[in-house]
Amino acid sequence: MLTLKDLTTDEFRFLLDETLKFKGNRAQHVKDQPLRGKTLGMIFQKRSTRTRVSTETAMVELGGHALFLGKDDIQLGVNESLFDTAKVLGRMVSGILARVFDHSDVEVLAKHSGVPVINALSDLFHPLQGLADVMTIEEHLGKLKGVNIAWIGDGNNVCHSLMISSIKMGMNIHIATPEGYEPDSTVFDYCKNNASSSEQVRLTYDPIVAATDANVVVTDTFISMGQEAEKQEKLKKFKGFQVNNQLVQHADKDYIFLHCLPRHEEEVTDDVIYGEHSVVFDEAENRLHTVAAVLKNVL
Ligand code: CP
Ligand code: NVA
Repeated sequence: MLTLKDLTTDEFRFLLDETLKFKGNRAQHVKDQPLRGKTLGMIFQKRSTRTRVSTETAMVELGGHALFLGKDDIQLGVNESLFDTAKVLGRMVSGILARVFDHSDVEVLAKHSGVPVINALSDLFHPLQGLADVMTIEEHLGKLKGVNIAWIGDGNNVCHSLMISSIKMGMNIHIATPEGYEPDSTVFDYCKNNASSSEQVRLTYDPIVAATDANVVVTDTFISMGQEAEKQEKLKKFKGFQVNNQLVQHADKDYIFLHCLPRHEEEVTDDVIYGEHSVVFDEAENRLHTVAAVLKNVL
């Protein structure tokens, strides 16, 4: 599972239903231990709180074992190539979860390891986050079809996964970015070509246009991991893209606010992220239930 493009709409729906079952009856899965005897190698080339903790917890609850392979723990990148790492891990573990810089790295792992590979965030996609976001939207709004999402900020990996989720599950997404920070053009073209209408995925440079009547307002850090050198320039370019009380006045009165976390103050104010419309901690919890559903069905 390298990107949500890999799922059909039926498979997406199936995984969401599995997720709801897991959340509704966590104790039963812990009792059933469906992953008894399975192991997951977790390659992390970047930091993580939610992805690491949710995956390790889910592996244990489902009866399996997770091996944390951080950048200082294994030979990869220092003494050993990705190809050899893929070959060796594939001889030992039941599956690999990997957080990488270049998306092509998860493709190499998938091609050469011979075991299922789950993308735990690359420069292009964050599919596990996308699943949790969709689960959270359905949980709070009671539906997905016709829901209007406003993405405010950087056209990044999390945005890409939400764009793909939108076209798979019948939601509309209006993306407001500064010029030069639009979503990747190949992801945008894929979404446009697979959208049910020309209105389903739209771009604007005006946050108010995107936020108007939105049911879901969502943002992410302006400075993704690995972009620290661009921080000063990006902060200048992203002025006016903060989600604050003025901006959310334009959203639907029952809107919900999402953020994958970790958050920084520049992209959202405290009164929005800790306000009554925010569901960010449900969204974080849902990372556990979604990854459990993925692991149970992929490994
Ligand atoms: N949202 C998310 O992936 O968080 P972590 O970087 O803490 O895993
Ligand atoms: N876009 C962020 C998401 C972190 C979970 C990053 O890539 O750093």
